[in-house]
Amino acid sequence: MTGASGFCGTAVARLAAAAGHDVVCVGRRPGPVGGHVRWDAAREQPDLAGADAVVHLAAAVGDPGPGERAEAAYRAVNVDGTARLLRAAHGRPVVWVSSASVYRPGPYRGPVAEDHPVDGQRSAYGRTKAAGERLALAAGAVVLRPRAVYGDGDRHLLPRLRRVVRGGYAWLPGADVPLSLTSVENLAAACLAALDWPAGAYNIADAAAYRRDEVLGRVLGVPVRHVPAALVRGLAAVTPSLTRYAVDQLTDGMVLDLARARDQGYRPRLSLADYLV
Ligand SMILES: NC(=O)c1ccc[n+]([C@@H]2O[C@H](COP(=O)([O-])OP(=O)(O)OC[C@H]3O[C@@H](n4cnc5c(N)ncnc54)[C@H](OP(=O)(O)O)[C@@H]3O)[C@@H](O)[C@H]2O)c1
Repeated sequence: MTGASGFCGTAVARLAAAAGHDVVCVGRRPGPVGGHVRWDAAREQPDLAGADAVVHLAAAVGDPGPGERAEAAYRAVNVDGTARLLRAAHGRPVVWVSSASVYRPGPYRGPVAEDHPVDGQRSAYGRTKAAGERLALAAGAVVLRPRAVYGDGDRHLLPRLRRVVRGGYAWLPGADVPLSLTSVENLAAACLAALDWPAGAYNIADAAAYRRDEVLGRVLGVPVRHVPAALVRGLAAVTPSLTRYAVDQLTDGMVLDLARARDQGYRPRLSLADYLV
């Protein structure tokens, strides 16, 4: 496993160990279980000796502002690091964890299936994850595309969402939309199951879509107020700390079509309600 020191990888490593797998965590820092093999994805090929399968979650994750520096830093891990990993994995089954951020930005009129175009991404993260998964797909990997993963240890989603709270309200751009979210436990279960799935891309999310306003109101614990989406997009064009990608995440209404994963037996067990009790 790579990325086992991160939010999602920790859940995958723990689940794999609990299922009886002999887990080796390959990365800059150890994982929560198993052995540790040092690897900096931006610099070197990993040592995968003894591994019979690979689950790859290591990635530069975030929403950097525009600029060639961020692009290069994200590319070094998400594209070049992937190429190094795939070379080392040669012949072994690989589950490569991608992201729904690879899809062409919306707004979306219906559920987004795996054949939705993968281009036009508005962030270095989305662009480099898309380039990385192209390599993985060409190498015959199983590619998982979760959207907005939440759960214990989340370092990305909730901190980003908290930024919409000002003066006791959650200020959300545009009208309420439906959206998919993914519990980290559902993603972890999919990562292990996918070792037996045919090569190709699969959307991964909770069983049912959520309503943005209801979910954010409950998670953030404050009432929701709307601001015009065009105004917020305008602000994003001139405010370095507010990116267009972050605005899209709240306005695009991305609901993932899970039919392909369901055909392989994917049955997401948990939903946000399990966390909010
Ligand atoms: N969180 C989400 O909402 C979400 C949504 C969709 C897809 N995903 C995907 O899920 C995967 C895990 O994301 P996460 O949320 O768990 O992010 P995270 O907590 O930031 O974890 C990222 C992992 O990648 C490793 N990594 C980063 N740079 C590395 C490098 N140069 N060499 C080796 N390892 C490196 C980190 O290890 P260090 O300890 O060395 O930093 C860490 O283990 C990613 O592939 C991401 O694209 C996440």
